[in-house]
Amino acid sequence: MDQQTSARAPARIIDGKAFAASLRARIAGHVTALKAQGVTPGLAVVLVGEDPASEVYVRNKGVATAEAGMQGVEHKLPAETPEADLLALVARLNADPAVHGILVQLPLPAHMDADKVIDAIAPEKDVDGFHVQNVGRLATGMDAMVSCTPLGCLMMLREALGDLSGLEAVVVGRSNIVGKPMAQLLLRENCTVTLAHSRTRDLAEVCRRADILVAAVGRPRMVQGDWVKPGATVIDVGINRIPAPERGEGRVRLVGDVDFDSAAKVAGAITPVPGGVGPMTIACLLANTVIAASRQAGLAPPADLAY
Ligand code: GUN
Repeated sequence: MDQQTSARAPARIIDGKAFAASLRARIAGHVTALKAQGVTPGLAVVLVGEDPASEVYVRNKGVATAEAGMQGVEHKLPAETPEADLLALVARLNADPAVHGILVQLPLPAHMDADKVIDAIAPEKDVDGFHVQNVGRLATGMDAMVSCTPLGCLMMLREALGDLSGLEAVVVGRSNIVGKPMAQLLLRENCTVTLAHSRTRDLAEVCRRADILVAAVGRPRMVQGDWVKPGATVIDVGINRIPAPERGEGRVRLVGDVDFDSAAKVAGAITPVPGGVGPMTIACLLANTVIAASRQAGLAPPADLAY
């Protein structure tokens, strides 16, 4: 709590961890119902190489899949695996009726063409929403698998604000994984959307007009409190590891793309890092897997997971 300056109440903290836990509990219920109809949702996660951060993500995905009652299968391939072998594995998973979702963890080793690999995944099993068919379907307003991180952000925004119609949204960062699909989702919610990036002129000024500000640039604490419109809802997608000598030699801590302390004095609501967007991403991966499994079994996806 700020004792010195603020006349405003501090921002409401959007608790992504609690929201993700309740979403995961609902998903587990859907998995039970699907199993009763003879369908066990199956997610195959493919990891190539030994990137430590990717290993942590993949392990977390495996735990979450099991907790939700789904069938999780991990495929770990050595870093020097030929691209053709990875493509052959993807083809096998495409043809396997027990596998409803396929996720190839990125980044891939430099000798592999990630676009080619993603393109090889059957679009209906592309629970990452990275395949051009899904990207195009989202952009044209058709049913699509949607990238998990922006989907999690959207769920939190709807929870915090209800109807988003007519709001000014500024997304900072134009990646294929977050920025671009986030902009598409907000447009579909009838927001007026600005997709800003590192070359945007007067970025602080552009951010200041946002009722909804989504930061997804990968630069620690770039968005400052004076970039935030009073009362705005701020979603921080960044997960940056910075040195934390106060915790001991060589220790690090996680910070977002938003300078939380200054932004929380101005915003109406804000996601923390950690405990904001991160937990929602995995919950949305599980949701996408349930949706994919339902569709592949010829069933309607659960209405509460529709987006
Ligand atoms: N690497 C970092 N984030 C992601 C993600 O959401 N999906 C995949 N496949 N790889 C990632």
